[in-house]
Amino acid sequence: MNCDENVVRLEVRNGFGIVTIDNPPVNAGSTAVRRGLLTCIVKASEMDLQGVVILGAGRSFVAGSDIKEFGAPLAAPELPQVIKAIEDCPHPVCAAIHGASLGGGFELALGCDLRVAAPSAVLGLPEVTLGLVPGAGGTQRLPRLVGVAEAISLVCSGQRVPAPEALTLGMVDALANSSAAEDLITAAQDAIRTASHKRKLRDLPVPSGDPKSTDAAASKALRRSKGRPNVAEAIALVKLSAQSPTDHALLKERAAFQTFRLEEEAFALRHLFFAERAAMRVDGLQAMPSEITHVGLVGGGTMGQGICRAMLAAGLPVTLVERDTETRDKAANVIAQALDASVAKGRLAADEAEQRKALLTPSAEMSDLATCDLVLEAVFEDMAVKKELFHTLDTILKSGAILATNTSYLDIDEIAAVTSRAEDVVGLHFFSPADIMKLLEVVRAKDTSDGALATALSLAKKLGKQPVVARVAEGFIGNRIYAAYRRHAEFLIEEGASPQDVDAAATDFGFAMGPFAVGDMSGLDIAWNMRKRQAATRDPSARYVEIPDKLCESGRFGRKTGGGWYDYDDGKPRSSEVVSAIINQARAAKGITPRAVSMQDIQDRLLGAILNEAALVLEEGVAQRAGDIDVTLVHGYGFPRWTGGPIWWASEQPAERIKTMMAAVAKAAGPGALTGTVQDMLAPLWAEREEIEKRKSGDA
Ligand code: COA
Ligand code: NAD
Repeated sequence: MNCDENVVRLEVRNGFGIVTIDNPPVNAGSTAVRRGLLTCIVKASEMDLQGVVILGAGRSFVAGSDIKEFGAPLAAPELPQVIKAIEDCPHPVCAAIHGASLGGGFELALGCDLRVAAPSAVLGLPEVTLGLVPGAGGTQRLPRLVGVAEAISLVCSGQRVPAPEALTLGMVDALANSSAAEDLITAAQDAIRTASHKRKLRDLPVPSGDPKSTDAAASKALRRSKGRPNVAEAIALVKLSAQSPTDHALLKERAAFQTFRLEEEAFALRHLFFAERAAMRVDGLQAMPSEITHVGLVGGGTMGQGICRAMLAAGLPVTLVERDTETRDKAANVIAQALDASVAKGRLAADEAEQRKALLTPSAEMSDLATCDLVLEAVFEDMAVKKELFHTLDTILKSGAILATNTSYLDIDEIAAVTSRAEDVVGLHFFSPADIMKLLEVVRAKDTSDGALATALSLAKKLGKQPVVARVAEGFIGNRIYAAYRRHAEFLIEEGASPQDVDAAATDFGFAMGPFAVGDMSGLDIAWNMRKRQAATRDPSARYVEIPDKLCESGRFGRKTGGGWYDYDDGKPRSSEVVSAIINQARAAKGITPRAVSMQDIQDRLLGAILNEAALVLEEGVAQRAGDIDVTLVHGYGFPRWTGGPIWWASEQPAERIKTMMAAVAKAAGPGALTGTVQDMLAPLWAEREEIEKRKSGDA
C-alpha cells in the first residue's frame, strides 16, 4: 500500500507492519515523506500487528530533514507530529537503520521505541553545523539514552557516530548482520519480540550524571564553536532534559529550532551545504572516471609526506619516489613516525597504522612508477625541475596513466606541453597539511581530457577532500584571491595601520588568523621568491609595497627565523621595533603621512580586495561559479564558515556599502589595476535573497 506520492509504503509481513521510505537519493525527510509516514503509521496503528518496522529504501535510512525546506514556512505535518503518531501507535515501533540516520532522520529513529542498525550505518545530530539546533526532540530524547554530558558532546559537535560505537553508547539497541533490507527487518523483528512492549524514550528518566562532566562538555563545545549562539542554545536545551517536564522542553526546543532556521547564519550555512556539493561537479562533464588502484608520488617533502598520508588513509597503495636513497629513507621515516604518533595519541588503531605502512613503497627509482594509474609530483616549485620530471615521467608511465602536479602557481599548460600526452595532465593542488586540510583544487589545464578530470574528481572524493575545479591561472582560485587580499593588507600598512591592527581586524571578522600571522607561520621567503621571479614582468606603474622584501632582506622569514612581521622571542607574536622602523622608512621614502585606519576600514578593504579578485576569477572563467569561490575560501583559507563565504557574505550587505568598498579598493590599488564587475557577480545572489525574503514570509 502506498501511503503518499509513492515515497512511503506500508506492507504486512509475518504479522509486522513494514514501512519503507523511498525518496531517492538519500531519503531526505521532505513534506511528502512526513505526510506519507503519518498516513502509514496511523494505518498500521489500526491493524492487528506484533510491531512496526520503519526502514529506508536505497542507500540510506533518512539522511535528515529536507534542508531545502528549511528556508520557508514548514508544511504540515511537521516532524514532531509524525513522531507523536509513532509514540501513540499501540505497537512497538523499531527503526531499522542503514546508511545515514542524521538530523531529523535520527530524531525520527529516537521517536521509535527501538533502533537497530547495520554495522556500516552512521547516526548523529549535525544540525548545529547548519546553524540550527535539533528541532524534533533530539536534545530531549538523546540524553535519556546517553546521559547529558555525552549528549552535549554529540549535539554540539554534530559528530557522525558509526553504528558499533552507537551501540556502545546506547544510541541503538542492536546491530543487524548487514545493510540488506532482509537483515535489517529480521534484526528489527527480533528486537521487537525481545522488548515485547512500547518503550517511549520521552518517558525514560535522564541518567543522573556527574555535573563536572556536563560542565566540561559544555565548555569544550563553546570553545570549539567559538561561542556560536545556536551551540549555546543547544547546551541549554540538552540540560533542560534533566530539569523540565518533557512536553515543556520539547516546545522550547521546537521554538528555538524555528527561530534559528530563519537566521542569517542558517541561510549562509545552507548555501555552503549546497555549494560544496555543486563544487564537486563540472557542468556538462559526462566522462566516467577510471579506476585508481595504485598511486605514484614524486617528492617526499612537506607536501609529498602529507599527500602520502592522505592516500594511505584512503587505503591506496603508494610508491613514493625521492631524489636519492637518503631523502627516500628520510621521507619514509617521517611518514612512519607520524603514523606512530597518531597511535600514541590514541587517534589511530595500531593495526590500522601497520596496514597503512604496508601500503607504502619508498623508492629512489622513477622506473618503479611504470605501473601506477596516477602519478602526482610535489617536487620543488621550479618550472625547469617540473618540466624535466614530466618529460621523464612521459617516457616511463603506462599509457592512460594520469600525470598530476601539485604546483601552487606554475603554468600547468607549459608543464603539460613537454609531454606527448597533455590530455592526461591535471593539477591536484593540495593545501598544507595535506592530510588535514579538506580543500583540493583540481586544475583543468587547456588540454586535460574529460576522463582525466572525472578521475581526478573521483580521487578527491575517495580521499575525503572537498574538490573545487579551477582553470590554469597564476595561483588558480585560492592563492590568486589570497594574494590580492595580502597585497591590500600590505597597502594598509603603508597607509598607516600596523600588522597588529590588520590581523586584529581579520580575526574580529572571524578569520582563523590574520594575514601577517599567517605569513609568519608559512614563511615570508616563499612569496619573496615568487616576487623576485615576477620582478622582470611586473607592471612598473602598479603599486608595490617594498616592506616585505625589506623584512626578507634582513633575514626575517617569519617564525622559523625567530621574526617576521612580529618578533617571536618567547614563541608568541610580539610587535617588533625593527619592523616598525622598516615600515616608517618605507612610508617616508614614498612621502606617505600615516593616517589612522579604523577596524571597519581594514575589514572593508580586505573583503573588498577578495571580492574584486573573485569577480575577475569568475569573469576569466578560472572558477566555474561564485559558490566555488565561497567553498575555496572557507575550506582552504580560514574564512569564517558561518558567513557562507565572501560572496554570500557580500550579498547580505547593502549595495551602497559594496560600492563604497570597491571604490576604496580601486583607489588603493591605483590606476591600471584590474577591476572586477562585483555588482554583476552579486546580482544573482541579490535576486536569490529577494526570493528568500518572500519565502520566509510565505509569499513565494
Ligand atoms: N536535504 C536535502 N538534500 C539532501 C540532504 C538533505 N538533508 N542530504 C543530502 N541531500 C542531497 C545532496 O544535496 C545531494 O544532492 P545533489 O545530488 O543534487 O547534489 C544528494 O542528496 C546526495 O548527497 P551527497 O552529500 O552528494 O551524497 P553522499 O553519498 O556523499 O553523502 C550523506 C550522503 C547523507 C552522508 C550526506 O548527503 C549528508 O551528510 N547529508 C546531510 C545530512 C544532514 O546534515 N542532515 C541534517 C539535516 S536536519
Ligand atoms: P619541499 O621542498 O618540502 O619538498 C620537495 C621535495 O621534492 C624534496 O623532498 C626534494 O628532495 C624532492 N625532489 C625535488 N626534485 C625531485 C626529483 N626530481 N625527483 C624526486 N624528488 C625530488 O617542497 P613542498 O613544500 O613539499 O612543495 C612541493 C610542491 O608543492 C611545490 O610545487 C609547492 O609549490 C607545492 N605546494 C606547497 C605547499 C606548501 O604549503 N608547502 C602547498 C601547496 C602546494
